[in-house]
Amino acid sequence: MSIQTAKDILIEATEGKYAVGAFNITNLIQMEAVVEAHLDHRAPLIIQTSVTPSQFLGKEVLVAIFRTLAESAPIPIALHLDHCEDVNYCKQCADAGYTNIMIDASKQDLEENIRQTKEVVDYCHRLGTASVEGELGTVSGVEDQVRVAEDEALLCNPEQAVEFVEQTGVDLFAPAIGTAHGVYKTANPKVDFERFGKIFRLINGQGVRIPLVVHGGTGLPLDYVRKLIGLGGAKFNVSTDLKHSLIDATYEYIRQHRDEYNPGRIDKEVKKAIHAKVSYWIDMLGSAGKA
Ligand code: 13P
Repeated sequence: MSIQTAKDILIEATEGKYAVGAFNITNLIQMEAVVEAHLDHRAPLIIQTSVTPSQFLGKEVLVAIFRTLAESAPIPIALHLDHCEDVNYCKQCADAGYTNIMIDASKQDLEENIRQTKEVVDYCHRLGTASVEGELGTVSGVEDQVRVAEDEALLCNPEQAVEFVEQTGVDLFAPAIGTAHGVYKTANPKVDFERFGKIFRLINGQGVRIPLVVHGGTGLPLDYVRKLIGLGGAKFNVSTDLKHSLIDATYEYIRQHRDEYNPGRIDKEVKKAIHAKVSYWIDMLGSAGKA
């Protein structure tokens, strides 16, 4: 059985100085493609859905497909709910069988963020089948229902980060360090590496307890990714890259075969494109052969 919580997968990654890709999917074809790429590279995997696809496809349906794929796959796989701002929906997804839950109360003040995150942590820990990710500071850009304007993005305060993880008991921590959701507007986005390293040392200096998460993976240059892994980054979230792969491959196939009506062939092209993109990420993250 290869179903795991994200925490278990990521403690190992942090200690081993590699990172694990956390890929946002919106349909079954994407989920299969992501799993197949990780099987081919024997890499651990975190599959993510944000709230809208989980409601559109149905959380129980997603969990059933996840379990079917994961149970026959000899690699560790977690299913993560991404950027959920609703405490009750977090609990419902944990009940349904997601194995990692992100409560995103990062737009609230510190006290309220701690209160909501702790409520989800307490619930999931009682359940015993899901770990929990929390965020402090805000990541700019759009991820599903969460929108943060560039001038509203706030970097994570390292001292508050310690207070946050101590008081919430959270399993994974996502500090805002200047990365952004969506496509970067510049080739050299302003990422605060020093802040990230300091947060890692403050939280995990005496031994790895709470793996760190990097949001806004799409478009991060290779040297940024490697540097962040060296500083303790264990989970890299990738969403926009997969959306582009899906839509570009679909568009290109239809453009070249406008008179054909065979959806299976489009699915095959989409799978191929996603497999290639995910393989590129596995290579950057150094997760091949770690499962
Ligand atoms: P990108 O869309 O920039 O890859 O970010 C994904 C993400 O951080 C999801 O939580």
